[in-house]
Amino acid sequence: NNYCVIMSGGVGSRFWPFSRKTYPKQFLDFFGTGRSLLQQTFDRFNKIIPTKNIFIVTNEDYSNLVQEQIPEINKSQILLEPTRRNTAPCIAWASYHIRELNPNANIVVAPSDHLILKEDEFLNSISNGLQYVAENNNLLTLGITPNRPETGYGYIQIADHINESLYKVKTFTEKPQLDLAKVFVESGEFYWNSGLFMWNVNSILQSIDQFLPEIASKLDAGKGIYTTPKEKNFIQENFPACPNVSIDFGIMEKAENVYVSLGDFGWSDLGTWGSLYDLSDKDENQNVTLKGDSIFYNSKNNIVALPKGKLAIIDGLENYLISESDNVILICKKDEEQSIRKYVSDAQQKL
Ligand code: GDD
Ligand code: MG
Repeated sequence: NNYCVIMSGGVGSRFWPFSRKTYPKQFLDFFGTGRSLLQQTFDRFNKIIPTKNIFIVTNEDYSNLVQEQIPEINKSQILLEPTRRNTAPCIAWASYHIRELNPNANIVVAPSDHLILKEDEFLNSISNGLQYVAENNNLLTLGITPNRPETGYGYIQIADHINESLYKVKTFTEKPQLDLAKVFVESGEFYWNSGLFMWNVNSILQSIDQFLPEIASKLDAGKGIYTTPKEKNFIQENFPACPNVSIDFGIMEKAENVYVSLGDFGWSDLGTWGSLYDLSDKDENQNVTLKGDSIFYNSKNNIVALPKGKLAIIDGLENYLISESDNVILICKKDEEQSIRKYVSDAQQKL
């Protein structure tokens, strides 16, 4: 009864220019392991979930990329969104689709762009979590101990514990302002939302009905159409009419029946160049080179990402990000990464 939904439709704009709209970060092999983040995600879940029960939801633009990277799954397991509507409609569609196949499915919904260093602990928590949601009509997320007031994450305040690692959630705050994030981290009562969820298909569809009726009213009408040849047309017509909303703002902040499983999984969201720098091997001057090659003089704390086979000679730079991809080179202070969204939109006028 266990299913996995991998969400793989994000654009990864914070990793520009390495990650491009035509080739977002989940399809990249950051550490040169030979497997992209999406492939690593698939490999990980495939250890506990049968191949035929793994679904990948992505934008139709990435259809070929997904098929190339994950040839193990059948085309019918790739759900192609005609427009970007964020994670709530993505999860809703996958849930309606899977309910048609198995009305008692227990689903783990996972991002496609995370790094997990402690796989055994991780898979153990997922297995326990799936068991829990099979027996309880609750929404379960994986929580991570925070180490900085990151504003790009959801924050979970815990209440009573159910067992050693499982807690009822008191409050869920998606992407707080920095001053609030600081208070959360200092209080010691809050955890980061990993963005990975588990639930029974009926529990999540109930919550969608309750908190996102605009989505339910569009997609529920597909009952009996999902998994048939008519599904594609139905989605082309109805999916774009869904509001653009994340599961975090749309449901997790509002629902009462949210629980969190805590653990240490060596988790990283690889959300930004900074997080990638922190996780990468460094030379004696704390410089990081990802792909490509580099020679440093009088330089420290830099991160360089180049196409394979390119060499950068860097003299006298500290705390810089240097990234080249296709026809773009970005050189900026490593801590200017909040400006990357601005760079992207300005660059689009020229490209
Ligand atoms: N299919 C599909 N369609 N996938 C999408 C879409 C979409 O429209 N938008 C995003 N995704 C995928 C991304 O590729 C990623 O794997 C996952 O869904 C999460 O989306 P992000 O856009 O990366 O979310 P986030 O990082 O801002 O926030 C989420 O993750 C944080 C942890 O990394 C939230 O769940 C936060 O609460 C959480 O802390
Ligand atoms: Mg993310």
